[in-house]
Amino acid sequence: MKVLIIGSGAREHAIAWKLNKSNLISGLYIAPGNAGTDALGTNLPINPMDFDEIKKACRENGIQYVIVGPEDPLSAGIVDDLSAEGLKVLGPHRDAAKLESSKTFSKQFMKRYNIPTAEAVEFDDKKKLKKYITEKNGKWVVKKNGLAAGKGVLESENKAELISFGMNILKNDTLLVEEFLEGYEISLFALSDGKNYLVLPPCSDFKKAKEGDTGPNTGGMGSICPVPWVDSELNKKIIDEIVVPTFNGMNREGLNYKGVLFFGLMITEKGPKVLEYNVRFGDPETQAFLPLIDADFGNLLEAMMEGTLDMISLKENPLSSVCVVVASQGYPASYKKGVKVKPIPEISEEKALIFHASTVLDKNGDVLTGGGRCFSVVGMDEDLITAASRAYNAVQFIQFDGAWCRKDIAKKFFVDEES
Ligand code: AMP
Ligand code: GLY
Repeated sequence: MKVLIIGSGAREHAIAWKLNKSNLISGLYIAPGNAGTDALGTNLPINPMDFDEIKKACRENGIQYVIVGPEDPLSAGIVDDLSAEGLKVLGPHRDAAKLESSKTFSKQFMKRYNIPTAEAVEFDDKKKLKKYITEKNGKWVVKKNGLAAGKGVLESENKAELISFGMNILKNDTLLVEEFLEGYEISLFALSDGKNYLVLPPCSDFKKAKEGDTGPNTGGMGSICPVPWVDSELNKKIIDEIVVPTFNGMNREGLNYKGVLFFGLMITEKGPKVLEYNVRFGDPETQAFLPLIDADFGNLLEAMMEGTLDMISLKENPLSSVCVVVASQGYPASYKKGVKVKPIPEISEEKALIFHASTVLDKNGDVLTGGGRCFSVVGMDEDLITAASRAYNAVQFIQFDGAWCRKDIAKKFFVDEES
């Protein structure tokens, strides 16, 4: 199989790393890739939104399979476009991509199938929004309808702040005002071949910029897999109340597809509720769960594309993993790009994995930063505490001006392990 991975993040580096170990792969291409993927396959300097160039590269290189990492090309219909050329593309068609790219579409979908979620009201009018929020007390959530790279959501008790955030969104989009849900978040991924699906072990993503889950939302500052608090009883509840009705609803409405469905869940006192659906691999969750999957990823990819996922069962991996994201100074607000990274020593995969995000190689072979989140460092071991210390030990090898990370990734989950 010749496979093209679209994207340049640490998620795409992790996918390339896993595919590179497959016996079935005869060619691995990444567009545009980063300084890390350069060592695993051929980076193609193509913008993920340039579908014509992508198709041309597939023809020229004899590529049959395409995995799409980021949400923007998915919501712009890359799967429909490339599939029409006979390519086998992992991801949702344009209609199904709306489950992620429109919060109002996905909220209405959840309501139609009684899938537990936060109560919400949709607004497209500034006056009505202001009146609604002014009459509320306590903490509320304002959510932009369209894609916003994790920055379209504000949770606050401050009415003026909520109104001003909402007014800004209403300049060019609609929004939802949602009840604030308390609990802890998990990310659950299901691989689907359009008929059958396979649920992976749950992950948790650390979305906030600062320690103790405070500060602004980010694309994700770290992740763990699996989540020790998800026992078999909770797992069953999630499958029965959320996963099954979601796939049934998708089948009924022709929204099923070959690819990944990501459930962003809040585990509340009243049970699990859906915060959002994504129609792709999560970042940074993928960096944490993919190394734990004890299967040939080429095999899994083929099964998803050929509709034979029911023939596959994944072995349970006894290890835990912790992923720590190293970011640029200033992220998630503005940050500098092109900062030189000190050479990273070779470390064995048993110690930790280092995945690049948006880095580039300059003409001297030096690695330069290229984005807000620059590296994902993953440690694995029999327990979360040791896995986290492996990740943090390796984080010390990532050195560039202004580099920072959250110091408490995984920590809130240590409680059970220490007792
Ligand atoms: P979303 O893009 O909908 O997943 O929202 C981004 C983040 O905002 C989530 O991961 C949560 O941390 C937070 N969030 C979103 N909706 C709610 C809600 N109804 N209650 C509490 N937190 C929320
Ligand atoms: N980690 C959340 C996302 O990929 O959107």
